[in-house]
Amino acid sequence: MYDAMLGGQHNFAIDREAVAAFTAIDPQVRTLARANRAFLGRAVRFLIEAGVRQFIDLGSGIPTQGNVHEVAQAASPGARVVYVDNDPVAVAHSTSLLADNPNADIVDADIRRPADVLASPQVRKLIDFDQPVAVLMNAILHFVTPEEDPAGIVAAFHDALPGGSWLALTHATNQDRPDTADAVGKLYRSRATSPVSARSHDEIRGLFAGFDLVDPGLVYVPLWRPAPDDLIPDKPSEYWVYAGVGRKGP
Ligand SMILES: C[S@@+](CC[C@H](N)C(=O)[O-])C[C@H]1O[C@@H](n2cnc3c(N)ncnc32)[C@H](O)[C@@H]1O
Repeated sequence: MYDAMLGGQHNFAIDREAVAAFTAIDPQVRTLARANRAFLGRAVRFLIEAGVRQFIDLGSGIPTQGNVHEVAQAASPGARVVYVDNDPVAVAHSTSLLADNPNADIVDADIRRPADVLASPQVRKLIDFDQPVAVLMNAILHFVTPEEDPAGIVAAFHDALPGGSWLALTHATNQDRPDTADAVGKLYRSRATSPVSARSHDEIRGLFAGFDLVDPGLVYVPLWRPAPDDLIPDKPSEYWVYAGVGRKGP
């Protein structure tokens, strides 16, 4: 569905039909998907400037424009990236895209089992846990239900990281548009493989336990360190996704 929202080529009629139903709930959903993706690029560039050279991208999705290894390696050619997804289409396309890239790889794993991710040969080969690591959880934790303990998942990654490491994430929110969040929740329950759990600002802020948010904090996605020519919407809450980046202390 996300690939279809972004105008990609790797989607099926059933995905496009679900996105049409999504568009009936929120006509701006494609703009929102692009804004979510654009944040990923800004966050990776910010992290490279902060000295990070290794990334674990959880729920990385079907490769599209501005993949993490492309952004990171354009800025720092030796940057290393491990992607993680449990969708067979995402894994297959990532495997073929990364075949000739010695510094990037994909793990077919479920982020709800962090120990499997951390013990994977790809992570063990490419990630040095004595150096800062950025864990990216872009548009993924809202696919984790309260019973599946999203805070516990983040904590497992936090505890494996050295001081000076980072967490960047985006997350759907029900803070200012609860009706939209409800309708989208119903749509995903009926049409998608994973239900969506939109969360409040406080709940998403709580996922950064052990990380200090950098300015401007947890904000609607277009407001996180926009590029100079980015349009700032009059009503940022129309973009019902929060974004933030936090650093683990020493
Ligand atoms: C909305 S896409 C986000 C893609 C990318 N992170 C971005 O923000 O541009 C969510 C991705 O998370 C993956 N996903 C959902 N639940 C997952 C899980 N439990 N473990 C691994 N991947 C998961 C889906 O397969 C999908 O590729």
